[in-house]
Amino acid sequence: MKTPKICKTRAELKAAIAQANPGSLGFVPTMGALHAGHASLFSAAREENELVVISIFVNELQFNDATDYARYPRQLEADAQLAGAAGVDIIFAPEASEVYHAGLPLIQLNSGTMGELYEGASRPGHFDGMLAVVSKLLHLADPRQGEYRAYFGQKDAQQVVLIRRMVADLDYPVQLRLVPIVRSEKGLALSSRNALLSEEEKEAALVLHRAIKLIADRAARHEPLDIEDAIGLFQMEPLVELDYFVVVDPNTLQELAFNCQDTPFTGEGLILVAATVGKVRLIDNQPI
Ligand code: PAJ
Repeated sequence: MKTPKICKTRAELKAAIAQANPGSLGFVPTMGALHAGHASLFSAAREENELVVISIFVNELQFNDATDYARYPRQLEADAQLAGAAGVDIIFAPEASEVYHAGLPLIQLNSGTMGELYEGASRPGHFDGMLAVVSKLLHLADPRQGEYRAYFGQKDAQQVVLIRRMVADLDYPVQLRLVPIVRSEKGLALSSRNALLSEEEKEAALVLHRAIKLIADRAARHEPLDIEDAIGLFQMEPLVELDYFVVVDPNTLQELAFNCQDTPFTGEGLILVAATVGKVRLIDNQPI
């Protein structure tokens, strides 16, 4: 196992990348509290790049709830170990003052109408804050020569759609790679927030995947999706409060009309779900 180099400042990061002078660089932005879901992104980056750089930064701008931000797990030492085992070369772990030099940015990105749907509706400003940091991090890790790829998880489906649009709309010189969702044996999508769930809540949270699977199986058989049945599963879980369960177009995020009893599913879609379990908000999804 290697020990990744930890860079605290943008100058250190720049110097470390210049010193490695890689023919290709794979970059994975994270907020830390790393788990096997993150590790699969690191491994994907390791497979196709000479240098693998990750960032660990809990971005206050994308939290619209101060308590959620305060209790987000922070554990750099354990994270460095997991990253090293997955072959990461460099960890960029800056303080907020290093990322947002003079306080919060005056000029900010706007995630547009797609940023107001689903997660954006429940967490106003979340996607603008997410794009603010991703746009900066993509610049800071840019090797300026050779190939440059950035890796994102399907776990955050709406986030990836918005980052894809940002990269296309603003001509970022980076190739995006999408990595499938990593789940626990029982089907719970791995998330840093799962650490905040009790055992009982973890069991209850399995309803997200059960509901997704019910609808994904119908889609595979080209049957009507009847998503009311999936929504019904949530009503049987007192610890879980459903926020949304929708089937959308994977590119525009507009809701599709396969929900009623007599429309068989054809084509492509994306199931999106969000629910609160205890005090923890969870999201999951599946392309169909
Ligand atoms: P974070 O939640 O730490 O996630 C970092 C990356 O890991 C994201 O691309 C996310 O989709 C991916 N990921 C998380 N859990 C996963 C799982 N179970 N399977 C596969 N991939 C998974 O997403 C963020 O941080 C932030 O919004 C960030 C992009 C870093 C900007 O602050």
